[in-house]
Amino acid sequence: MKRTWIGVVALAAAVLGGWVLAQDRGPSGDPRPGTTDPEEIIEARRVLMIEVERQMIPVDRFAAGEPADPEAVRSAGAAMEAMLLAFPHLFPAKTNLYEPDVREPATRALPEIWQDFDAFLTLAEASESAAAAMADADGDEALRTAGRSLRASCDACHARFARPYVPPQVTEEDLEFDFESVLPPQQ
Ligand code: HEC
Repeated sequence: MKRTWIGVVALAAAVLGGWVLAQDRGPSGDPRPGTTDPEEIIEARRVLMIEVERQMIPVDRFAAGEPADPEAVRSAGAAMEAMLLAFPHLFPAKTNLYEPDVREPATRALPEIWQDFDAFLTLAEASESAAAAMADADGDEALRTAGRSLRASCDACHARFARPYVPPQVTEEDLEFDFESVLPPQQ
């Protein structure tokens, strides 16, 4: 008898679960945009990378021999380990939207990622392990070396899979610009 009840409860839960899932759909039956919208996924991975870069500030300083709190460096390593674990999951195929001719593209993730996703994953795992090793590094010299290895792991992935950041250039036209034409007349 008890078994029957468990069966009934399980069936009810399954039906209710199906109903709840069915509610999480847009008018056309597509999953709600908030959960799978490519632009939002791209934004999430970019924001994650920007935060990883911020975590690297004390690490790079310490690795360069400048003073920094070793405990803060180790703790940044633990935070980045978690972030780098999540990072490659933000690359579903539909976010392969790089536009080479656009100056400020929505994403700088290159199509090569999806041509060799295994290589991309390997580089993500290498970076995650480097962050974990830094979190566990004992002694200043080991910590400095770990910080440099972590930075090298970021660079290795960017060199192959991300469009490099090109700072705005000063052009001939800029240099010839007539500044006085836009300044208020002199008193
Ligand atoms: C497995 C590959 C990979 C690793 C490892 C990796 N990155 Fe990235 N990173 C990318 C890709 C791809 C992008 C472009 C993302 C986009 O525009 O959609 C990126 C973008 C960035 C950006 C630019 C963010 C923006 O949109 O302004 C910064 C900063 C950055 N990464 C820092 C780091 C740092 C620091 C590390 C190491 C601790 C790191 N990354 C490790 C692949 C990687």
